[in-house]
Amino acid sequence: MRTAGCVILFFFMFLSVSSAYPGWMRQYKPCKQLVLYFHDIIYNGQNAANATAAIVAAPEGANLTILAGQFHFGNIAVFDDPITLDNNLHSPPVGRAQGMYIYDTKDTFTSWLGFTFVLNSTKHQGTINFIGADPIMVKSRDISVVGGTGDFFMHRGIATIMTDAFEGDVYFRLRVDVKFYECW
Ligand SMILES: *[C@@H]1O[C@H](CO)[C@@H](O)[C@H](O)[C@H]1NC(C)=O
Ligand SMILES: *[C@@H]1O[C@H](CO)[C@@H](O)[C@H](O)[C@H]1NC(C)=O
Ligand SMILES: *[C@@H]1O[C@H](CO)[C@@H](O)[C@H](O)[C@H]1NC(C)=O
Repeated sequence: MRTAGCVILFFFMFLSVSSAYPGWMRQYKPCKQLVLYFHDIIYNGQNAANATAAIVAAPEGANLTILAGQFHFGNIAVFDDPITLDNNLHSPPVGRAQGMYIYDTKDTFTSWLGFTFVLNSTKHQGTINFIGADPIMVKSRDISVVGGTGDFFMHRGIATIMTDAFEGDVYFRLRVDVKFYECW
């Protein structure tokens, strides 16, 4: 009798402990997902017509036409990049990625991203706001999707970003897999 009581007691203790940490078991599934690409062409003194990004801050001893040494630490770039549905720079843009990146790590290539997707196409109207640390050398990394407007009113989630291509310090293309876990 007493052992049975103990077993039941432990069963309920287990239940209450496991329900206190639901994250252990829950499988999160996005309520909405979209994959987009954006293309960044950094001004290098010769490509004014095509450049979509400008270095606006550089550490002492560096300049605004070439990213600084020591993992670009201290550089800040502002960008207004075309967004496309596929990985072709010349595809019709569906919006602009606008914001900045800050190189904020001295011993590896990491930038801090803060930008908005301003989408204006037949498929999507609205904005999506992104923030987070981008360890560029890692193949696939996650940043936060902190909110949105229009079609993305009050949406939040995670964006998985991958460097799809790069050419020296002048061009790179990011693949952004936006996964919303909160949709309205
Ligand atoms: C700008 O892009 C066009 C088309 O890709 C290319 O032909 C041209 O050489 C580029 N101009 C500069 C200044 O990079
Ligand atoms: C910018 O810095 C780079 C590297 O130190 C140097 O080669 C280049 O001449 C500088 N450009 C200007 C415009 O000062
Ligand atoms: C979206 O595109 C339409 C058609 O090109 C244009 O009239 C409108 O001003 C654009 N809206 C924004 C917010 O850029």
